[in-house]
Amino acid sequence: MKTGNFKRTLVTTALPYANGPVHIGHLAGVYVPADIYVRYLRLKKEDVVLIGGSDEHGVPITLKAKNEGITPQDVVDKFHGIIKKSFEDFGITFDVYSRTTSKTHYETASEFFKTLYDKGEFIEKESEQYYDEEAKQFLADRYITGTCPHCKSEGAYGDQCESCGTSLNATDLINPVSVISGSQPIIKTTKHWYLPLDKHEPFLKEWILEGHKEWKPNVYGQCKSWIDLGLQPRAVSRDLDWGVPVPVEGADGKVLYVWFDAPIGYISATKELTPEWEKYWKDPESRMLHFIGKDNIVFHCIVFPSMLKAEGSYVLPENVPANEFLNLEGDKISTSRNWAVWLHEYLLDFKDKQDVLRYTLTANAPETKDNDFTWKDFQARNNNELVAILGNFVNRAVVLTHKYYDGQVPSCGEMNDYDKETLNEIPAIVKRVEDALDAFRFREAVREAINLARLGNKYLADCEPWKLIKTDAERVKTIMNIALQITANLAILIEPFLPFTAKKMQNMLNLDGLTWDDCGNLEFLEADKAINKPELLFEKIEDETIQAQLDRLEQTKIDNEAANKVAAPAKDNIEFDDFTKMDIRVGTIIEAEKVAKTKKLLQLKVDTGIDQRTVVSGIAEFFKPEEIIGKQVSILVNLAPRKIRGIESQGMILMAEDATGQLEFVSPASEIKPGSEIR
Ligand code: MF3
Ligand code: ZN
Repeated sequence: MKTGNFKRTLVTTALPYANGPVHIGHLAGVYVPADIYVRYLRLKKEDVVLIGGSDEHGVPITLKAKNEGITPQDVVDKFHGIIKKSFEDFGITFDVYSRTTSKTHYETASEFFKTLYDKGEFIEKESEQYYDEEAKQFLADRYITGTCPHCKSEGAYGDQCESCGTSLNATDLINPVSVISGSQPIIKTTKHWYLPLDKHEPFLKEWILEGHKEWKPNVYGQCKSWIDLGLQPRAVSRDLDWGVPVPVEGADGKVLYVWFDAPIGYISATKELTPEWEKYWKDPESRMLHFIGKDNIVFHCIVFPSMLKAEGSYVLPENVPANEFLNLEGDKISTSRNWAVWLHEYLLDFKDKQDVLRYTLTANAPETKDNDFTWKDFQARNNNELVAILGNFVNRAVVLTHKYYDGQVPSCGEMNDYDKETLNEIPAIVKRVEDALDAFRFREAVREAINLARLGNKYLADCEPWKLIKTDAERVKTIMNIALQITANLAILIEPFLPFTAKKMQNMLNLDGLTWDDCGNLEFLEADKAINKPELLFEKIEDETIQAQLDRLEQTKIDNEAANKVAAPAKDNIEFDDFTKMDIRVGTIIEAEKVAKTKKLLQLKVDTGIDQRTVVSGIAEFFKPEEIIGKQVSILVNLAPRKIRGIESQGMILMAEDATGQLEFVSPASEIKPGSEIR
């Protein structure tokens, strides 16, 4: 595809919901590819803007606020800040990062709705919805829970049962209950505005199915199957008190549906960026691209274009290079299960290693199918590619220049065939990177870019300047000049992918203001130019570091399992007399040691207040002997003594055990005299 037919490019990135931080899935699917693409166009001196912002409406945000006893505004203020900072930290170069609670956005979304309304582009329809009479409000699907009609599990939501995954209509639920008041909701009629997608079907068929056969197969395929199924009118308003109010009379208590206002957020953000925003949105010579994840395809390829078309004055997206999903260690990334690598946490563990993550996520991007992020792959890509190929080559070129020439670029003498062949490869590699980027094939593009470092590495290894320096110093000058020219080319070529590294390389080479056109230029490092000292680009990541990450995920699994397990059902009733037969006391552990040749057993000496006695307890997997000395515990003192591994155990320490088998002592909340009775 040619970018040359367009005067400028508007790149939008899906607005993340401001109800949680962002993770590697967001970065891999949307923000890294968009940033790579935009950096590439900027290097080509094209007119391009990168638009982003937080999506701050929708029911999940109101539910989170309710659960935490704060306002929706508090929720979005907190996460908007965290998300914005994560993007800055990872070098995502938004020209504007806005939010859908901004004043400009309320005005823009409101006006947009009004325009369509006045043009008669909506239909008004009444429908039956659940209504909470106590709270006096209509209930969004997520505000209703009940028994799933399919698997009969409790706590299914009005739109989906999370146990069996079935999508539901709220009216399907058995025994529906309002999340707000706990009361049983009634059914009441309500009026909403609908965008008649069916009316836009002929246009969508023509525009996408005929006009955009070049879209990625996953995107085109999804659009085709939606259109083939037949499009239905979609409600663009909701009964809710969080969002952009529907700007027509008699619409009290109604707001724009989040998926109506959010994409308009791209327009609002552009307005905030520049008073010339209309040239990006309304000039047919502008090219609009939406970077999104696959769950957003229908909204960006069908709903939003229908809105824009209905409005009439806007351009439509030229392409929507949506990605599939990134999984983490084989499981779907999930915010609620904390199964994710959060960007702000990554940087605590891997300070200054933004490029390592950017690289891994690009090299392994879920471009054509879902993909898996594994820490082992992350380590391997760092150690075998970034350290061993890119870092190694650049380091050698710079270090040897300092060693042989006191940090000045040597002049290039007569070149032999191998030199020429090597240099000729550069424009070919650059072309391959360009072709891949123009087609949004980022995995391929980054692989080709690293191939230039491979080429440089091979060139140095083949020429062995470190040997020749003793016998043919003149020849070494040419070799090192060529190695440095390759390094300079690399410093441009990798910039879209590894911007932090490119910056360091440009510093080392004492270069700035480079453009994409300089790629293939083999003379911009003139002879005698002074270069700077080598800086560390990448360092090896050790097994322990990776293991720590894997351990953390393992712990998450255990925690989730525990959270999901329900408590065991109660046992049959007993009489009070049965209970009083047990003599339970507070005791203090005064000695503890492992029972030899066992994994689970500790031999304890316990001060029971009555005496000091020996107890054998199966807690060694959870507690180290030295940790528990002095601890106050509950002990059943009248349990008949029994021999365990040849040791007489006189009583039993009571332990609390959760559903996963984790053990905790049952101890008095504060210190009390040993021998105190528990009853
Ligand atoms: N918040 C949505 C999500 O995370 C994306 C919104 S994209 C926009 O899935 F177009 F609506 F802005
Ligand atoms: Zn179910």
